[in-house]
Amino acid sequence: MLNVALPKGRLGDRVYAMFEKAGFECPSIKENNRKLIFENEVCGVRYFWVKPSDVAIYVERGAADIGVAGKDILLEYAPDVYELLDMKTGICRMAVAAPKGFRDDPRRTLKVATKFTNIAQNYYASQGRDIDMIHLNGSIEIAPILGLSDVIVDIVETGTTLKENNLEVIETVVPISARLIANKASWKFKTEQITALTEHLAMQLKAEE
Ligand code: PRP
Repeated sequence: MLNVALPKGRLGDRVYAMFEKAGFECPSIKENNRKLIFENEVCGVRYFWVKPSDVAIYVERGAADIGVAGKDILLEYAPDVYELLDMKTGICRMAVAAPKGFRDDPRRTLKVATKFTNIAQNYYASQGRDIDMIHLNGSIEIAPILGLSDVIVDIVETGTTLKENNLEVIETVVPISARLIANKASWKFKTEQITALTEHLAMQLKAEE
């Protein structure tokens, strides 16, 4: 049985459709109920829906053999997993944003609000910039508006959230997309199944190019 952690939401729906095409179908998953675990014994697959930011934890600890997680989570938490494939979906970027017209004064410590403190820390360390890190759990965009921070480091997809809050991107930190990841022991013991799936997914992505 191959255990797959899917990120709940639109990204997960798209990922499931790709897995289905690759021969890992599980029709019961389309029944619209509140169940979180679905199994198809015939093709030997079990899916579970988890919070997108939790996928890497399930995979790292072996509760799932494989899963799909955002590169943002992989960079932030550095889970001990194999990254097998860029799924070319869930595409966005990690960016520094600030109120329109903001000018950075390098003589002052920069106040940075973010959910992604490791990514932000590494980014500013690589620039040798002194910062005061403010960890928030959500609604990051409010921080510079209320003067809690000078800038934010956050995910930008369409840019709508920034625009509606009078903020703008000042630097891109890193591009982000969803990645297929595998538990290290599972990779060893289920190599054949995981490789076949990865290759099929890669072919699908190539055909879409
Ligand atoms: C992310 C991010 C921004 C928004 C950006 O939040 O934190 O708020 O998406 O998207 P946009 O550029 O298309 O407007 P998300 O919706 O993932 O919720 P979260 O804050 O709970 O992570």
